[in-house]
Amino acid sequence: MDQRSDVGEFLRSRRAKVTPDQAGIISGGRRRVPGLRREEVATLADHLAALRERTTVVPAVNQIEVHPYFSQPAVQQANAELGIVTQAWSPMGGITSYRGTGTSTFDDPTIGEVAAAHDKTAAQVMLRWHLQQGRSAIPKSVKPERIAANFDVFDFDLTAAELQRIDALDTGVRGGPEPEAVTREAFHRDIPEA
Ligand SMILES: NC(=O)c1ccc[n+]([C@@H]2O[C@H](COP(=O)([O-])OP(=O)(O)OC[C@H]3O[C@@H](n4cnc5c(N)ncnc54)[C@H](OP(=O)(O)O)[C@@H]3O)[C@@H](O)[C@H]2O)c1
Repeated sequence: MDQRSDVGEFLRSRRAKVTPDQAGIISGGRRRVPGLRREEVATLADHLAALRERTTVVPAVNQIEVHPYFSQPAVQQANAELGIVTQAWSPMGGITSYRGTGTSTFDDPTIGEVAAAHDKTAAQVMLRWHLQQGRSAIPKSVKPERIAANFDVFDFDLTAAELQRIDALDTGVRGGPEPEAVTREAFHRDIPEA
């Protein structure tokens, strides 16, 4: 099978539903990861089962939407139980500002208070929140001064109470697309030079 058809087959197989037990990712006969909705387990199990059919290694990283307004604690917990590093998609909640929803993580009063207490910016506090909770975060900026500031997050520590205040901002409302909507049909673009 060539690489192109292999990728197509993988994406088609993502839609075949399997139970967590069938996927073999939940040990001890448990059908659920505590705190994780059944459909979330099924989705994660689905994706991992499809990958396992074609790879000899388990994924090291799972990039999911994580920012203060949508932090998916249950999926993060499932990743941790499977030894997978959670990598934050839209780590500073850029998705909450450039979609024009009117509520941006950068302007959040709680994050602003925490930032002021450490003489840091909201962006720096959000990046520190990821690092202290063990996530990978790759912030994006086109501005050199912001890129430098976004690296300057290694000289302060958020307290446990501050981390909890940021955790509590989770609205449960996704900003980006549902994972199941990210298909070859919806997102495929030919890359002529590839
Ligand atoms: N796999 C994918 O398809 C995919 C798609 C989207 C995003 N991502 C991942 O997520 C990363 C970024 O996602 P994202 O753009 O949605 O969100 P983000 O990194 O959370 O935020 C980026 C936005 O915040 C602004 N910003 C950056 N630093 C700032 C600062 N210090 N203060 C104030 N504003 C700041 C940027 O504007 P300026 O550029 O003008 O500074 C940009 O609008 C990407 O690099 C990638 O890792 C992945």
